[in-house]
Amino acid sequence: MRLGLVTGNRHKLEELSLVLRDYGVELYMLDTPKIEVQSNSLEVIALGAARKAYSRTRVPLIVDDSGLFIEALRGFPGPYSSYVYKTIGVEGILRLLRGVPDRRACFHAVIAAIVPPYEKVFHARSCGFITESPRGAGGFGFDPIFAPEEGDGRTFAEMSIEEKNRYSHRAKAARMLGVWLREAFKRRVGSSKHL
Ligand code: IMP
Repeated sequence: MRLGLVTGNRHKLEELSLVLRDYGVELYMLDTPKIEVQSNSLEVIALGAARKAYSRTRVPLIVDDSGLFIEALRGFPGPYSSYVYKTIGVEGILRLLRGVPDRRACFHAVIAAIVPPYEKVFHARSCGFITESPRGAGGFGFDPIFAPEEGDGRTFAEMSIEEKNRYSHRAKAARMLGVWLREAFKRRVGSSKHL
């Protein structure tokens, strides 16, 4: 199955492709804008963007909307992560957390899928810690300052894509999508036999 990904972020494409190919899905970057409604809910943003993209393109597609929720900042930047990254960036977040001992944070990912006749949303989290300083050259966004709790202390930016996919919010949601697609496809193939 081929699925379009509505994003301009090639890192998201790489991470998701690697997971989804294990489920027989070939992911490609869909050339249509990700139109985001303003909301505090990643699900509302992802689903809204997926529906808009589907109404323009009419091809099976997914949208990934994600954010970093920092405990000591009561969930900030959350759904505003993209804007906060572009404005104050990694250094700005480290400044806000200077001298703060509670470094806990979680990435949340929502993947909204429109695969006719289905529409489905998947949520997943990766929790860990904000480091004292940036480490690593890989990945994107807040990867250099986030170390997952299931890992060995390295940040996402110090890991290969395969390693990041072991722990990341996005890869967890993608595996749920993969399992669901496999089941949904099986059901349809099965039911078509009785038509
Ligand atoms: P969006 O999902 O494209 O709206 O962007 C979410 C923002 O959250 C990105 O610009 C990043 O700053 C941040 N973000 C989301 N997922 C990740 C990740 O896996 N690593 C690092 N930063 C991320």
